[in-house]
Amino acid sequence: MEKEKPIGVFDSGVGGLTVVKRLISALPNESIVYFGDTARVPYGSKSNDTVIEYSIQNTKFLLQKNVKTVVVACNTASSIAIDVLKKQFDIPIIGMIEPGSISAISNTRNKKIGVIGTRATINNHAYRNQLHKIDESLIVFEKACPLFVPLAEEGWVDHKATYEIADEYLKELKQSDIDTLILGCTHYPILSKVIQEVIGKNVKLIDSGVASSEIVRTEIERIGLATNSSARGNISLYVSDISTNFKSIAELFLGQSVSEIIKVDIENF
Ligand code: DGL
Repeated sequence: MEKEKPIGVFDSGVGGLTVVKRLISALPNESIVYFGDTARVPYGSKSNDTVIEYSIQNTKFLLQKNVKTVVVACNTASSIAIDVLKKQFDIPIIGMIEPGSISAISNTRNKKIGVIGTRATINNHAYRNQLHKIDESLIVFEKACPLFVPLAEEGWVDHKATYEIADEYLKELKQSDIDTLILGCTHYPILSKVIQEVIGKNVKLIDSGVASSEIVRTEIERIGLATNSSARGNISLYVSDISTNFKSIAELFLGQSVSEIIKVDIENF
Protein backbone atom coordinates (compact mmCIF):
# COMPACT_ATOMS: atom_id res chain seq x y z
CA MET A 1 0.00 0.00 0.00
CA GLU A 2 1.41 3.36 -1.09
CA LYS A 3 0.01 5.09 2.01
CA GLU A 4 1.88 2.80 4.39
CA LYS A 5 5.27 3.48 2.86
CA PRO A 6 7.66 5.54 4.98
CA ILE A 7 8.70 9.16 4.47
CA GLY A 8 12.35 9.46 3.40
CA VAL A 9 14.52 12.20 4.88
CA PHE A 10 18.14 12.96 4.07
CA ASP A 11 20.72 15.34 5.40
CA SER A 12 24.47 15.82 5.15
CA GLY A 13 24.82 14.30 8.62
CA VAL A 14 23.18 14.33 11.99
CA GLY A 15 21.62 17.82 11.80
CA GLY A 16 18.56 16.70 9.85
CA LEU A 17 17.36 14.90 12.97
CA THR A 18 16.10 18.30 14.15
CA VAL A 19 13.75 18.12 11.14
CA VAL A 20 12.82 14.50 11.94
CA LYS A 21 11.88 15.67 15.45
CA ARG A 22 9.46 18.18 13.88
CA LEU A 23 8.10 15.58 11.47
CA ILE A 24 7.41 13.19 14.36
CA SER A 25 5.42 15.94 16.13
CA ALA A 26 3.44 16.83 13.00
CA LEU A 27 2.97 13.24 11.77
CA PRO A 28 3.38 10.83 14.70
CA ASN A 29 1.90 7.86 12.85
CA GLU A 30 4.14 8.09 9.80
CA SER A 31 7.24 5.91 9.60
CA ILE A 32 10.47 7.65 8.64
CA VAL A 33 13.64 6.41 6.97
CA TYR A 34 16.49 8.83 7.63
CA PHE A 35 19.80 8.92 5.82
CA GLY A 36 22.60 11.09 7.27
CA ASP A 37 25.65 11.39 5.04
CA THR A 38 28.04 11.48 7.99
CA ALA A 39 31.00 10.24 5.93
CA ARG A 40 30.83 13.23 3.56
CA VAL A 41 29.59 15.99 5.89
CA PRO A 42 29.81 19.02 5.72
CA TYR A 43 27.97 19.99 2.54
CA GLY A 44 28.05 23.68 3.47
CA SER A 45 31.60 24.14 2.25
CA LYS A 46 31.38 21.96 -0.88
CA SER A 47 30.86 22.95 -4.52
CA ASN A 48 27.39 22.95 -6.05
CA ASP A 49 28.29 20.05 -8.36
CA THR A 50 29.34 17.87 -5.45
CA VAL A 51 26.24 18.69 -3.40
CA ILE A 52 24.04 17.82 -6.40
CA GLU A 53 25.86 14.52 -6.96
CA TYR A 54 25.54 13.54 -3.29
CA SER A 55 21.88 14.60 -3.15
CA ILE A 56 21.04 12.40 -6.14
CA GLN A 57 22.78 9.40 -4.53
CA ASN A 58 21.00 10.01 -1.22
CA THR A 59 17.62 10.21 -2.94
CA LYS A 60 18.30 6.98 -4.87
CA PHE A 61 19.16 5.27 -1.58
CA LEU A 62 15.88 6.41 0.01
CA LEU A 63 13.90 5.30 -3.04
CA GLN A 64 15.45 1.87 -2.68
CA LYS A 65 14.00 1.88 0.84
CA ASN A 66 10.60 2.30 -0.79
CA VAL A 67 9.75 5.78 0.52
CA LYS A 68 6.63 7.64 -0.65
CA THR A 69 8.15 11.12 -0.47
CA VAL A 70 11.57 12.66 0.15
CA VAL A 71 12.24 15.50 2.56
CA VAL A 72 15.54 17.27 1.92
CA ALA A 73 16.28 18.26 5.52
CA CYS A 74 19.66 19.74 4.64
CA ASN A 75 19.28 23.45 3.86
CA THR A 76 22.46 23.40 1.79
CA ALA A 77 21.19 20.53 -0.37
CA SER A 78 17.76 22.20 -0.55
CA SER A 79 19.41 25.43 -1.72
CA ILE A 80 21.45 23.80 -4.45
CA ALA A 81 19.86 20.53 -5.54
CA ILE A 82 16.08 20.75 -5.10
CA ASP A 83 15.27 21.64 -8.72
CA VAL A 84 17.49 18.85 -10.07
CA LEU A 85 15.92 16.32 -7.69
CA LYS A 86 12.38 17.40 -8.56
CA LYS A 87 13.18 17.05 -12.26
CA GLN A 88 14.93 13.71 -11.95
CA PHE A 89 12.64 11.81 -9.56
CA ASP A 90 8.98 11.09 -9.97
CA ILE A 91 8.04 11.41 -6.30
CA PRO A 92 7.09 14.43 -4.14
CA ILE A 93 10.27 16.15 -2.94
CA ILE A 94 10.05 18.77 -0.23
CA GLY A 95 12.95 21.00 0.80
CA MET A 96 13.46 23.62 3.46
CA ILE A 97 13.76 26.87 1.51
CA GLU A 98 10.21 27.40 0.27
CA PRO A 99 8.46 26.41 3.54
CA GLY A 100 10.88 28.50 5.63
CA SER A 101 10.39 31.50 3.36
CA ILE A 102 6.59 31.25 3.38
CA SER A 103 6.62 31.04 7.16
CA ALA A 104 8.93 34.07 7.45
CA ILE A 105 6.70 36.12 5.16
CA SER A 106 3.63 35.29 7.19
CA ASN A 107 5.43 36.40 10.36
CA THR A 108 7.16 39.62 9.33
CA ARG A 109 5.39 42.91 9.95
CA ASN A 110 8.09 45.33 8.82
CA LYS A 111 9.17 43.22 5.79
CA LYS A 112 12.76 43.05 6.98
CA ILE A 113 13.91 39.44 7.18
CA GLY A 114 17.27 38.01 8.21
CA VAL A 115 18.63 34.67 7.01
CA ILE A 116 21.47 32.69 8.56
CA GLY A 117 22.91 29.49 7.09
CA THR A 118 26.02 27.73 5.85
CA ARG A 119 28.36 29.51 3.42
CA ALA A 120 26.86 27.55 0.51
CA THR A 121 23.26 28.42 1.42
CA ILE A 122 24.10 32.09 1.87
CA ASN A 123 26.40 32.37 -1.18
CA ASN A 124 23.70 30.81 -3.37
CA HIS A 125 21.15 33.35 -1.99
CA ALA A 126 18.61 30.53 -1.91
CA TYR A 127 16.37 32.07 0.75
CA ARG A 128 16.73 35.61 -0.58
CA ASN A 129 15.74 34.51 -4.09
CA GLN A 130 12.79 32.51 -2.80
CA LEU A 131 11.61 35.37 -0.57
CA HIS A 132 11.84 37.82 -3.47
CA LYS A 133 10.03 35.39 -5.77
CA ILE A 134 7.07 35.67 -3.39
CA ASP A 135 7.39 39.35 -2.49
CA GLU A 136 9.89 41.61 -4.28
CA SER A 137 9.51 44.39 -1.76
CA LEU A 138 11.04 42.43 1.13
CA ILE A 139 14.38 43.58 2.48
CA VAL A 140 16.59 40.57 3.13
CA PHE A 141 19.80 40.47 5.17
CA GLU A 142 21.97 37.35 4.94
CA LYS A 143 24.82 36.05 7.07
CA ALA A 144 26.78 32.80 6.92
CA CYS A 145 27.43 31.36 10.40
CA PRO A 146 29.60 28.28 9.75
CA LEU A 147 30.86 27.88 13.31
CA PHE A 148 27.34 27.27 14.59
CA VAL A 149 27.47 23.74 13.12
CA PRO A 150 30.38 22.42 15.22
CA LEU A 151 29.09 24.31 18.28
CA ALA A 152 25.72 22.55 18.00
CA GLU A 153 27.42 19.17 17.47
CA GLU A 154 29.54 19.82 20.54
CA GLY A 155 26.30 20.31 22.48
CA TRP A 156 27.37 23.84 23.45
CA VAL A 157 23.79 25.03 23.51
CA ASP A 158 24.42 27.83 26.01
CA HIS A 159 28.19 27.90 26.34
CA LYS A 160 30.05 31.21 26.82
CA ALA A 161 31.91 30.63 23.54
CA THR A 162 28.61 30.18 21.69
CA TYR A 163 27.39 33.56 23.01
CA GLU A 164 30.64 35.22 21.91
CA ILE A 165 30.51 33.75 18.42
CA ALA A 166 26.79 34.57 18.09
CA ASP A 167 27.53 38.18 19.16
CA GLU A 168 30.10 38.45 16.40
CA TYR A 169 28.02 36.76 13.67
CA LEU A 170 24.76 38.52 14.46
CA LYS A 171 26.00 42.06 15.12
CA GLU A 172 25.12 43.46 11.67
CA LEU A 173 21.75 41.68 11.64
CA LYS A 174 21.03 43.21 15.03
CA GLN A 175 21.46 46.69 13.59
CA SER A 176 19.35 45.97 10.52
CA ASP A 177 15.94 46.28 12.21
CA ILE A 178 14.81 42.80 11.14
CA ASP A 179 11.75 41.44 12.93
CA THR A 180 12.10 37.87 11.60
CA LEU A 181 15.13 35.60 11.35
CA ILE A 182 15.21 32.36 9.36
CA LEU A 183 17.31 29.60 10.94
CA GLY A 184 18.45 28.35 7.53
CA CYS A 185 20.50 25.37 8.67
CA THR A 186 19.58 22.07 10.29
CA HIS A 187 21.79 22.72 13.32
CA TYR A 188 20.64 26.18 14.30
CA PRO A 189 17.43 25.24 16.17
CA ILE A 190 19.74 23.53 18.71
CA LEU A 191 21.26 26.97 19.41
CA SER A 192 17.97 28.89 19.36
CA LYS A 193 18.24 29.96 23.01
CA VAL A 194 21.54 31.75 22.37
CA ILE A 195 20.45 33.11 18.98
CA GLN A 196 17.21 34.48 20.46
CA GLU A 197 19.00 36.16 23.35
CA VAL A 198 21.64 37.71 21.13
CA ILE A 199 19.33 38.92 18.34
CA GLY A 200 16.70 40.16 20.83
CA LYS A 201 13.33 38.89 21.97
CA ASN A 202 11.41 41.01 19.46
CA VAL A 203 12.81 39.07 16.53
CA LYS A 204 10.75 36.01 15.58
CA LEU A 205 12.92 32.94 14.84
CA ILE A 206 11.73 30.74 11.98
CA ASP A 207 12.60 27.05 12.17
CA SER A 208 12.42 25.80 8.58
CA GLY A 209 12.00 22.25 9.91
CA VAL A 210 8.71 23.21 11.58
CA ALA A 211 7.51 24.96 8.43
CA SER A 212 8.45 22.09 6.12
CA SER A 213 6.86 19.46 8.39
CA GLU A 214 3.55 21.29 8.06
CA ILE A 215 3.96 21.33 4.28
CA VAL A 216 4.75 17.58 4.29
CA ARG A 217 1.60 16.95 6.31
CA THR A 218 -0.70 18.96 4.05
CA GLU A 219 0.97 17.62 0.90
CA ILE A 220 0.67 13.91 1.74
CA GLU A 221 -2.94 14.45 2.82
CA ARG A 222 -3.67 16.36 -0.40
CA ILE A 223 -2.32 13.60 -2.62
CA GLY A 224 -3.90 10.81 -0.55
CA LEU A 225 -0.65 9.37 0.78
CA ALA A 226 -1.19 9.88 4.53
CA THR A 227 -0.99 6.64 6.54
CA ASN A 228 -4.16 5.06 7.93
CA SER A 229 -2.23 3.71 10.92
CA SER A 230 -2.99 4.98 14.39
CA ALA A 231 0.16 3.43 15.90
CA ARG A 232 3.39 5.40 16.33
CA GLY A 233 5.53 5.23 13.21
CA ASN A 234 8.96 3.54 13.10
CA ILE A 235 12.08 5.63 12.77
CA SER A 236 14.95 3.93 10.89
CA LEU A 237 18.34 5.62 10.92
CA TYR A 238 20.98 5.05 8.25
CA VAL A 239 24.32 6.83 8.06
CA SER A 240 27.39 6.60 5.84
CA ASP A 241 29.76 6.56 8.82
CA ILE A 242 29.25 5.98 12.53
CA SER A 243 31.49 8.27 14.56
CA THR A 244 32.19 7.54 18.23
CA ASN A 245 29.87 10.26 19.51
CA PHE A 246 27.15 9.89 16.87
CA LYS A 247 24.58 8.29 19.18
CA SER A 248 24.77 11.06 21.79
CA ILE A 249 24.60 13.87 19.22
CA ALA A 250 21.73 12.07 17.45
CA GLU A 251 19.80 11.90 20.71
CA LEU A 252 20.40 15.60 21.43
CA PHE A 253 19.14 16.55 17.95
CA LEU A 254 16.24 14.11 17.86
CA GLY A 255 15.18 14.74 21.45
CA GLN A 256 14.67 11.03 22.14
CA SER A 257 16.78 7.92 22.56
CA VAL A 258 18.09 6.05 19.55
CA SER A 259 18.34 2.26 19.50
CA GLU A 260 19.71 1.16 16.13
CA ILE A 261 21.90 3.00 13.64
CA ILE A 262 22.77 1.21 10.39
CA LYS A 263 25.85 2.04 8.35
CA VAL A 264 25.55 2.00 4.55
CA ASP A 265 28.06 2.38 1.75
CA ILE A 266 26.29 5.25 -0.01
CA GLU A 267 28.43 5.02 -3.14
CA ASN A 268 27.78 1.28 -3.64
CA PHE A 269 24.53 0.36 -1.94
N1 DGL B 1 22.92 20.18 7.09
C1 DGL B 1 23.61 21.38 6.69
C2 DGL B 1 22.57 22.48 6.38
O1 DGL B 1 21.46 22.45 6.87
C3 DGL B 1 24.59 21.86 7.73
C4 DGL B 1 25.82 20.98 7.86
C5 DGL B 1 26.65 20.92 6.59
O2 DGL B 1 27.34 21.91 6.24
O3 DGL B 1 26.60 19.91 5.92
O4 DGL B 1 22.86 23.38 5.65
